[in-house]
Amino acid sequence: MAKTVLVGVTGCVAAYKACEVVRGLQKAGVRVKVVMTEHATEFVTPLQFRALTHEPVAVGLFDDAPGDPIHHISLAKEADLFLIAPCTANVIAKIAHGIADDLLTTTALATTAPLVIAPAMNVNMYEHPATQQNMQALANRDVSFIDADEGYLACGDVGRGRLADPEVIVRAVLDALDEQRDLEGKRILITAGPTVEPIDPARFISNRSSGKMGFALAQAAAERGAQVTLVAGPVALPDLDAPNIETIHVQTATEMLEAVDVRFDAVDAAIFSAAVSDMRPAAPSTQKLKKGVDDEQLSHLALEPNPDILATMGARKRTGQVVVGFAAETDSLEEHARTKLESKHANFIVGNLVGEGRGFGTDDNQAIIVSASETEKLPLMSKVDLANEILNRL
Ligand SMILES: Cc1cc2nc3c(=O)[nH]c(=O)nc-3n(C[C@H](O)[C@H](O)[C@H](O)COP(=O)(O)O)c2cc1C
Repeated sequence: MAKTVLVGVTGCVAAYKACEVVRGLQKAGVRVKVVMTEHATEFVTPLQFRALTHEPVAVGLFDDAPGDPIHHISLAKEADLFLIAPCTANVIAKIAHGIADDLLTTTALATTAPLVIAPAMNVNMYEHPATQQNMQALANRDVSFIDADEGYLACGDVGRGRLADPEVIVRAVLDALDEQRDLEGKRILITAGPTVEPIDPARFISNRSSGKMGFALAQAAAERGAQVTLVAGPVALPDLDAPNIETIHVQTATEMLEAVDVRFDAVDAAIFSAAVSDMRPAAPSTQKLKKGVDDEQLSHLALEPNPDILATMGARKRTGQVVVGFAAETDSLEEHARTKLESKHANFIVGNLVGEGRGFGTDDNQAIIVSASETEKLPLMSKVDLANEILNRL
């Protein structure tokens, strides 16, 4: 299916060059839709883009015809990538601060698609600390910039600020779209969340894993084109809604092993991010244990080891198959991760510290990645970014 690029056009002299960008993307087989700011329409008409794209051109936030979907949300969802070219200093500033006061900026806030910005403005506007800081803030949030060129500007000044060549913009967008699908045709198995091990029908032992890391991995892998099987312990997260993600819900480590066992041989890579309970009650009761009656059993809970899913699958790994494990430790992280790497036959181990508010349940994670040849220390980042860092190394 053709990818959809939403092209945002803002109030710049260079707005007419967006026509060339649109044509270039179309020639590459991309479906293009255009959203404009009101000020952009002073420079180029919506009709121009409607004629080029054969699609309605969106300008007003409140323009929806009755029965139409809410425009900024439908545009945001439709886009595989949102390109703003040319982008004014004003729109850069608004997006950097989360301001959503027109259709284009509201869509920018509503979309989860990658955002690519090609700025164009007078050299003093470009070099102004406000603009530079806004661009830096966006770059820190993984917004990609196509640098403005240096040269003679429409206002007569000479310096940086001229919109990058439309061909360069088209190439950058196509590269970004390709990059996103680098796992196309790959099958990836991911485990996530905790397991729960029953003591009796009402009670269990478990751990604090939220499943956020595994779900972020599944989402990112699916977005990059992989066919994903997600085996999830009980988590409070909604199921991921993508046609290339199959989610299998399990409760115990034994159930997780069974689900993994029948699927492992067919996948190209398996990422074991679940926090599997190491131990389980040796003799779970079929009836609720009662205070005063079963005190002996409740105060001396006999435990037995659970199967080690990572080690079992690591030992079975075939040539070319990639196995990734996780190590959540409270201390000596690198040492434990390296021991795990060797004993479980993993290709690499993602290690992170847990406890004192770190790791479990949070949206951010600071991890190390330990492989046979090196230990990489990654900065604190969102679990989504960490998921992509892990996938980059597959
Ligand atoms: C003739 C003209 C050319 C302009 N060119 C630019 C430009 O290239 N880049 C820019 O950031 N602002 C430019 N501006 C200023 C913007 O149009 C102005 O900041 C406007 O509020 C931007 O609206 P928008 O960001 O919603 O599109 C220009 C203004 C005029 C009148």
